[in-house]
Order: sequence, then C-alpha cells, then structure tokens
Amino acid sequence: MHTILPLISTIFIALSGILVAIGWYQIIKGRRELHQKFMVAGAIFALIFFLIYVSRTIFIGNTAFSDTAPVAIRDAYYVFLICHIIFATTSGVFGIVTLLLAYKEKFAKHKKMGRYTAIMWLITSPSGVMVYILLYVMYPGGATKPAIDAILGS
Ligand code: HEM
Repeated sequence: MHTILPLISTIFIALSGILVAIGWYQIIKGRRELHQKFMVAGAIFALIFFLIYVSRTIFIGNTAFSDTAPVAIRDAYYVFLICHIIFATTSGVFGIVTLLLAYKEKFAKHKKMGRYTAIMWLITSPSGVMVYILLYVMYPGGATKPAIDAILGS
C-alpha cells in the first residue's frame, strides 16, 4: 500500500514534464492559446503531485532509502534526492511567478523567466521519476515514518 501514492504522484510529475515540453513547443510554433492550455495543465498536474506528496509526508511519511543497498549507492541517492528537491522547489516558485507574469501580460519578462522555469521543470520531472525508480524499483524501500509522528512525538 505505501508504494501506490508515490507511484501516482510520480505519474503526475512525469505527465507534468511532458505537458510543459509540449507547451514550450507550441509557443515556439507561435500557437499562444495552445501554449497557455498546455502550460496551465502542466502546472495543475504539478500541483496535484505536490498535494499528494505533502499529504503523504504528513500522514504516511517519507521512505528511507533501502538499508540493504551499498553505502556508496545510498550516499549517491541522497545527493541526487537533494538536487531533485532543490530543482523542484525552485521551479515551483519560478512557475508561480511565470504564471503571474503571463496573466499580467508582461510577456517579455514572462518569456525570459519562462525559459528558466521550463528548463528547470524539464530537469525536475525526469529526476523525480529517477528518484522513484531508485527508491522503489531498483532496491526495496526502507522504513516509512510519518512526519506527524515526529511532530506529535508518537
Ligand atoms: C508555468 C507556466 C508557463 C511556462 C513555464 C511558460 C513558458 C514560456 C516560455 C519558455 C516562453 C518562451 C518560448 C521561447 O521563445 O523559447 C513563453 C512565451 C509565452 N508565453 Fe508562456 N509559459 C507558461 C504559461 C503561460 C500562460 C498561462 C500564458 C497565457 C496567459 C502564456 C503566454 C505566453 C506568451 C504570449 C508567450 C510569447 C511571449 C513573446 O514571444 O513575447 N504562458 N512561455
């Protein structure tokens, strides 16, 4: 049971990346309306990912990396995970600003910032899929501990 939510949220993160890539392609082709639709869909999918991730972290917990894997691989996994989290958080913030710039019709700024946002999200999305594969597919997941337990001290 505790691997079904990560699988669902990983599917959302993967689809979100695909939508953003298609959205970028649309604006390069000059199709503004399609660009807007794909980017908004990409942002909604990213938001769904985030909501699943946060509620799982609070109520079910984060899963530690397998304790049967070699230490070097575990260390590499955590470095990779931290990079992924930094990219995900930064592109989330950039995504909000990029959307605001679009709706304020500040398109020159939107275009500049949008490129950084899209590039970062196109790194975040596949690296999120990679985190899932490392954590659940290549090695059996380690212990899962709910954040709420830590908060309530139970
Ligand atoms: C987070 C969501 C979005 C991202 C990541 C994004 C990304 C981008 C990027 C990368 C470009 C420049 C493409 C290039 O020349 O290489 C761009 C341009 C543009 N975007 Fe977005 N976009 C987003 C949402 C939107 C929305 C919601 C709208 C409409 C309300 C919009 C309207 C436009 C327009 C009109 C341009 C052309 C600007 C110009 O050429 O002067 N975008 N966007």
